[in-house]
Amino acid sequence: MRARYPSRDVDVLLSDLLGEPVAYVLAHGERLVDSTPIDAAIRRRTAGEPLQYIRGKTDFFGRDFFVDDRVLIPRPETELVVETAIEKIDRGVRVVDIGTGSGCIAITLAHERPDLRVTATDASVAALAVAKRNGAVRVVASDVLSAFVRDFDWIVSNPPYIAAADIDQLAVEVRDYEPRGALTAGPLGTEAIEKILDQAGRASVILEIGFGQEQAVRDLAAAHHFAVNEVRNDLAGIPRVIVLSRRRS
Ligand SMILES: C[S@@+](CC[C@H](N)C(=O)[O-])C[C@H]1O[C@@H](n2cnc3c(N)ncnc32)[C@H](O)[C@@H]1O
Repeated sequence: MRARYPSRDVDVLLSDLLGEPVAYVLAHGERLVDSTPIDAAIRRRTAGEPLQYIRGKTDFFGRDFFVDDRVLIPRPETELVVETAIEKIDRGVRVVDIGTGSGCIAITLAHERPDLRVTATDASVAALAVAKRNGAVRVVASDVLSAFVRDFDWIVSNPPYIAAADIDQLAVEVRDYEPRGALTAGPLGTEAIEKILDQAGRASVILEIGFGQEQAVRDLAAAHHFAVNEVRNDLAGIPRVIVLSRRRS
């Protein structure tokens, strides 16, 4: 079956082709263009490929990020991770973004808080190439924090958090196009979060979590001797970001 897509996608593709804003496209319906590149793009879109991969870019926190099928497409709710990090993280400390993907969290945080020393890591070397292209400076391939000897002060992460069995229920755009390793880390969905807490050392942690995962993450935090300092809801009212710090023993 063919995927459906919003007609606005065509306006966006035309706007890219003409190098003009979407408002210009809407106001100049009479203008003739060579339809070959648009036809090719629409064929890809009709097959289900996300518009952001076809355009090769997406907006995150007001900046353009290059994206292709090596990385997850940054989501608006992940901006809440960045907002929380900008607010909470102490001045001048060492921060690591685990599972950086396109680098959207690490790069935005480095722009917004130039006092911080931000390292971007990912288990996927292919993803790290995209993060570098987007401007990530300190980039290290690592399975969570296993490549590092020194503790960080803060960890920020949007880890893969979908339960493996739920993958089949996802939209075609996500299920068939985004990297599987960016979506799920195992049957429970919390496996990557558990690994992060296992390896966090003395760092405080800001995590994006999935729908309905708050209690499971609270339980994991307690089992790993972390206190839950705050849980922030996204615009849909879903608990989305959790802030943890090491309990004093
Ligand atoms: C949900 S994506 C997040 C990407 C990006 N930070 C964002 O918010 O758009 C999760 C990322 O974690 C990476 N990842 C998965 N397992 C990992 C592991 N064990 N260690 C490090 N990175 C991992 C994936 O390759 C992917 O880039």
